[in-house]
Amino acid sequence: MNARREPGPGPFRDRAAAPAPVIEAAGLKKHFPIDTGVIAALVRRGPPRTVKAIDGVDVSVSSRSIFGLVGESGSGKSTLGMTLVRLHEPTAGSIFLSGEEVTHVHGDGLRRFRRRAQIIFQDPYGSLNPRLTVGDAVEEPLKIHGIGDRAERAVRVVESLERVSLQPRHFLHRYPHELSGGQRQRAVIARTLVLEPDFVVADEPISMLDVSIRAGILDLLETLSKDLGLGVLYVSHDISTVRYICDRVAIMYLGVFVEQGETGEVIDHPAHPYTQSLMAAVPLVDPTAGRKRVELPGEVPTPIDIPSGCRFRTRCPCVMDICSRVVPAWRDVGPGHRVACHLYQDATASSSGVPARGPGDRPFAHPPEAGDCREAG
Ligand SMILES: Nc1ncnc2c1ncn2[C@@H]1O[C@H](COP(=O)(O)OP(=O)(O)OP(=O)(O)O)[C@@H](O)[C@H]1O
Ligand code: SF4
Ligand SMILES: [Mg+2]
Repeated sequence: MNARREPGPGPFRDRAAAPAPVIEAAGLKKHFPIDTGVIAALVRRGPPRTVKAIDGVDVSVSSRSIFGLVGESGSGKSTLGMTLVRLHEPTAGSIFLSGEEVTHVHGDGLRRFRRRAQIIFQDPYGSLNPRLTVGDAVEEPLKIHGIGDRAERAVRVVESLERVSLQPRHFLHRYPHELSGGQRQRAVIARTLVLEPDFVVADEPISMLDVSIRAGILDLLETLSKDLGLGVLYVSHDISTVRYICDRVAIMYLGVFVEQGETGEVIDHPAHPYTQSLMAAVPLVDPTAGRKRVELPGEVPTPIDIPSGCRFRTRCPCVMDICSRVVPAWRDVGPGHRVACHLYQDATASSSGVPARGPGDRPFAHPPEAGDCREAG
């Protein structure tokens, strides 16, 4: 860990009263080179291509808060989570943990970072070794990091199990196949917590669980975040669960954020045409109800060949001439609520701070609702 983070011009720099960020990233990119093999080199024309899974993201997650990440399949949510915890090497940009740069730490620095930044995957079956008891599985990270002697580790294992409401005397000696799906995910969370991390990525942690036990896991995540001061990045397709537990949310499309803000504000007043389409496609019902995958009409462009200007323009009902030429800048559309779309002009340049123009540069009388653009066009 080396440089300290100075407040910069990113989209979160204006939160004077906000709690301290635990993880921050600026200009983060993760590009995957493809067709780099010998055979691919023989058949391809031109240089090797890259999948631009993350293509310039600024993000900040505060301690004691849950930051939601929503977007269609392939938008880059998991890649962002894995890059933030350094399971992927960033292609560009910087990552800071509690103000210290961790973008390129390695060796002991990376081991220390891994203790403090953890990830929970969606599949609790795949996350637990079938040959280890719950007690051994939760103790394993402590052994790997050389933490405590046997007695100290035992105390921490018991504490971790109690935190996730798994009675140690009932669960310490059970194997994963002897647990329900919810108990297995709780064991995974206990294994994550035993290292006392500051930041956790929860990548669709309830999507493989039975509907009846989802709310319990969501409540647990929320309680842990508040009680332990954890910053959580909660990745989900499911907007209703994001509303249920997240303080802030970012909407992701083809490797970038297109809208972000306080969760209620973004969900109740979606400003970006993509967010509006998501909200229209996924009715907000019981957050614990069945799986609701985000699916919109129109084909998602490949992250190998991203459209110029606004990357949503090929599916946007509000598209204008400028959209293919100019990448939209962030605009304020409400307190801490920002959107990257040419329909809006900067609050500083507009007395109302609401959209500047509709299709064909005609003014909107009010912030566009889903369907406004098609009607106006
Ligand atoms: N190791 C890799 N090599 C090449 N491409 C990759 C790799 N990992 C992810 N990608 C690509 O990066 C893009 C983003 O993938 P990612 O898994 O982050 O999406 P996601 O938003 O998490 O999707 P889902 O909701 O389906 O989990 C996809 O086009 C995916 O195919
Ligand atoms: S109006 Fe233009 S900038 Fe806004 S989302 Fe549509 S295509 Fe993108
Ligand atoms: Mg994913």
